[in-house]
Amino acid sequence: MLTAPSMLSADFLNLGADLDFVNREADIIHLDVMDGTFVPNISFGFPVVEAIAAKAEKPMDAHLMIVNPGKYIERFAKVGVDMLSFHFEAAGEESLSLIQRIHSYDVKAGIAINPDVPVEKIFHLLGEVDYVLIMSVFAGFGGQKFIPESLERIRRVKAELRRLGEEHVMIEVDGGVGPSNAAALREAGADILVAGSSVFKAKDRIAALNALKSC
Ligand code: DX5
Ligand code: ZN
Repeated sequence: MLTAPSMLSADFLNLGADLDFVNREADIIHLDVMDGTFVPNISFGFPVVEAIAAKAEKPMDAHLMIVNPGKYIERFAKVGVDMLSFHFEAAGEESLSLIQRIHSYDVKAGIAINPDVPVEKIFHLLGEVDYVLIMSVFAGFGGQKFIPESLERIRRVKAELRRLGEEHVMIEVDGGVGPSNAAALREAGADILVAGSSVFKAKDRIAALNALKSC
């Protein structure tokens, strides 16, 4: 399984050391960008993303939890992110054109959905994206409890990808992910596990990450 530690749970006073850890041990650097409007919380913006970009040795994956995501596609692409996702709830009918714009910068495009959005609503985009980000908590905060119904949502997306012959599209799962649910997530069809607290707050981070990788 591919692992994507969420830098939201890193120690911001020791961000360099935490980034070294992710560069060394994980596959993808997950960056949670929140604007205080699409979600109630504010996380970090360009100064932090640029600082991480300067030292990133693994692909950077920006997860935009913001209104009007189209406004910032160019800027994230120019910072050098490799993967860029935005929420279907924030973009609606504009989603397809945003995906095309992300691709025009040679960046992988992902569509993210919150747990209360029926997965069928994004089925028309599955042939367009490189990955689907299925939220297994409501976007906005790290450290929430995994919503078990997410497993069935992953299965439904996976089944539709198979039906469409689009199995190269990856499924990324984000929220409350850790060693206790990683195997079930893999069986359901997940390809990328985003993990904040279960990795950064673990007593033994390497062991926590290896448990995700090897499931
Ligand atoms: C939530 C974010 C997640 C979050 C994951 O809005 O998208 O990436 O930081 O954190 P944990 O793993 O602690 O749920
Ligand atoms: Zn995220």
